[in-house]
Amino acid sequence: MDSIGTNLFRVLRALSGKEFRSGEAVAKDLGISRASVHNAVHQAQALGIDIYSVRGRGYRLVYPHSWLDAERIQDALGGLGYRVHWHEQMDSTNGRLMAMGQAGVEHKAVLTTEWQTGGKGRRGRAWLSPLGGGLAFSILWRFNRSAGDLSCLSLAVGLGLVRALRQMGLAGAQLKWPNDVLLDGRKLAGILIELQGDVLGPSMAVIGVGVNVHLSEGVRGEIDQPVIDLVEGLGEAVDRNHLLVECLRYLHEVLEHFERDGFTGLRAEWEANHAFHGCEARMIAAQGESWQGRVSGIDEAGALLLDTATGQRRFYSGELSLRGVSA
Ligand code: BTN
Repeated sequence: MDSIGTNLFRVLRALSGKEFRSGEAVAKDLGISRASVHNAVHQAQALGIDIYSVRGRGYRLVYPHSWLDAERIQDALGGLGYRVHWHEQMDSTNGRLMAMGQAGVEHKAVLTTEWQTGGKGRRGRAWLSPLGGGLAFSILWRFNRSAGDLSCLSLAVGLGLVRALRQMGLAGAQLKWPNDVLLDGRKLAGILIELQGDVLGPSMAVIGVGVNVHLSEGVRGEIDQPVIDLVEGLGEAVDRNHLLVECLRYLHEVLEHFERDGFTGLRAEWEANHAFHGCEARMIAAQGESWQGRVSGIDEAGALLLDTATGQRRFYSGELSLRGVSA
């Protein structure tokens, strides 16, 4: 294991039930010393995991954690052809899966982790997915087309996620161009797609998805935009295994569609789910330039169409950020 002690995950698993457990009982169960349990608890707290520590009762995770079970996920996905790989901890599922893809790992390989310590976000940002706080996974999809033909892939993926989240009871899940998933106007999930391939194809996409499941106040404080998590949205605890299965199921649906027919048949549904469709909004470039207008849709290449006072403008994904403008 990299920087994290070998006892840490074992101790955390022992503390993830509803009951408090004494250091002594955990030490006995795991065959380690009480001091090791104590150290692991301190290490976890230093890493931002909230743990109750009550004299006379012992320890318990503040937020119950549903651990991922790769076998269960694989079984639930039946004949879809995914192969699920799981690790307790890693820097970035996208980074690792890209390396696995280059080494020849099969089409539809999925990589997920309990704790992503160096998650990558769009536009060179970091993505925080602390233990128990998020779901982070990546899918490797091999296409027969060139990477240049995949410009709408991230839009299709966003739609797949919205379908999955709505099916789980989040009727208000929406998209924000190009590929954020929002709930109540706040960010619930993000997508990062990394491509590799020849000009004429074939190409390989690593499709990375991060979903906020239950963010502590500490983590929320580190994020520089309004965020929401699934527990807040649903008002109840979330089984991350179920969440991953539903995401993979609906992503499979849109990815197969996209591979067969491209984005065309998904465009109307994408627009209907766009939080800013028909709304006044401002597009802001990284250099600070901005354009205001009414969002009238997206074109067949996935560019956002903004009707401004000086005519319609098309924006292709990149160093751009879309914001709502109150009337
Ligand atoms: C964004 O900035 O909105 C995109 C966030 C994407 C995060 C996911 S988490 C799983 C995968 N691995 C990464 O390192 N990043 C993506």
